[in-house]
This record gives sequence, structure tokens and C-alpha cells, in this order.
Amino acid sequence: MSLRLMDTTPDFTAETTEGTIQFHEWLGSSWGILFSHPADYTPVCTTELGTASKYKEQFDARNVKMIAVSVDPLDSHNGWISDINETQNTTVNLPIIADADRNVATLYDMIHPNANDAMTVRSVFIIDPAKKIRLMLTYPASCGRNFDEILRTVDSLQLTSKYSVATPANWKDGDNVIIAPAVSDKDADDKFPKGYQKVKPYLRITPQPNK
Ligand code: BEZ
Repeated sequence: MSLRLMDTTPDFTAETTEGTIQFHEWLGSSWGILFSHPADYTPVCTTELGTASKYKEQFDARNVKMIAVSVDPLDSHNGWISDINETQNTTVNLPIIADADRNVATLYDMIHPNANDAMTVRSVFIIDPAKKIRLMLTYPASCGRNFDEILRTVDSLQLTSKYSVATPANWKDGDNVIIAPAVSDKDADDKFPKGYQKVKPYLRITPQPNK
């Protein structure tokens, strides 16, 4: 069965480059990002894991734990990590799941046979502290992911989890936001003391509440 937003993220036990984990326990009370790589020793994935490692501090600051998965065994991952460190001018600092039996790839529907029946697509699952899937992205193997965009979606998810707002097109942290349609004008006056601009009855703009 395919996964949908707000489903509980499937739990699993897996070997990783940082030891064996039980996924829910590993997540603890953090947000999480699980992202798949088509295979080890592939060029785009090499740049992605280098980039993810360089962004780790920014994800840590948002209480987000990152974990990668690739359908290759642990010894392959360890050799590949040496290449990533050498070529991407970084030290890989997040666990990579060794998913040679495709348990995780199958649980999360990461193999799309019409694209490729041996490799995963590039999936991203963002999971909240209640273990609910809050966002899913799917890219083909040929397109490396944009980690600024992943950070931006984390910022939006964390903001909109706390305040009755939504974030507009191309929003980034610090920009104005939209008051959720379910909030009445009367409640909006109380909830958004900085005020708001009523462009249309359904389009009310307010400064980002936590800035
Ligand atoms: C890559 O990660 O570079 C890649 C993997 C599979 C197909 C194409 C590119």
C-alpha cells in the first residue's frame, strides 16, 4: 500500500553505517528525514551525500535527524563513504541504511519498476515528532535534490505546525505568511497582534508570527 501524508511512518530495524537501528527509536522526539539513493558509487548520489553532510548543522538546528538509504550492503557503503569524503571535501556525518534486502525500499515504495526495477527513485520523507509523514518528494535518479528546498519545507512544516498559517509560493523563512482560511477575522485579530492585510476575504497576509 502506498504511503500518504499523515500516515504513521513505517518502523523497521536496519543495519546502518552507524550501527543497527530501530527507526522509531532512532527518531526519538526529533523530526526526521529519510531519503533514498538509487545505488552506491553513483555520481549524483555522491554529490547529494556530500551536500547533506554539509547541511547537517542546519538540520540539527531545526531538531531534524537525517538518514539515507541505499539498496547496497554495508561494506559497499563504507567504501563509498571514503570516496564521498575525498571528492566532496566533507566527512559524511549521517547514517546510511544498508538495504540489500530492499526491506526499507519496499516498505516506503521507493522502487518504481517503470523507472528502474533494480534501483530506488530519489524519495524524501519528512517525519514529525509524532512519527507522522508530513511531506514526500519523489525525484528521478537523474535529478539531484535541492537541500535548500528541503530546509525550506522543514521551516514551513515547523512554522505551520505551531501557528494557524500557511506559507505562500516561494516563501522562505522570515517572509510574510498567509492566515489559514479556517481562522475567522475576529480570531485573526487576537492570534496575529502584528496585524494583517486583507487582500481578499480568503487572502490575508501577516508577518511571520515567530520573527
Ligand atoms: C546517480 O546517482 O548519479 C545516478 C544513479 C542512477 C542513475 C543515474 C544517476
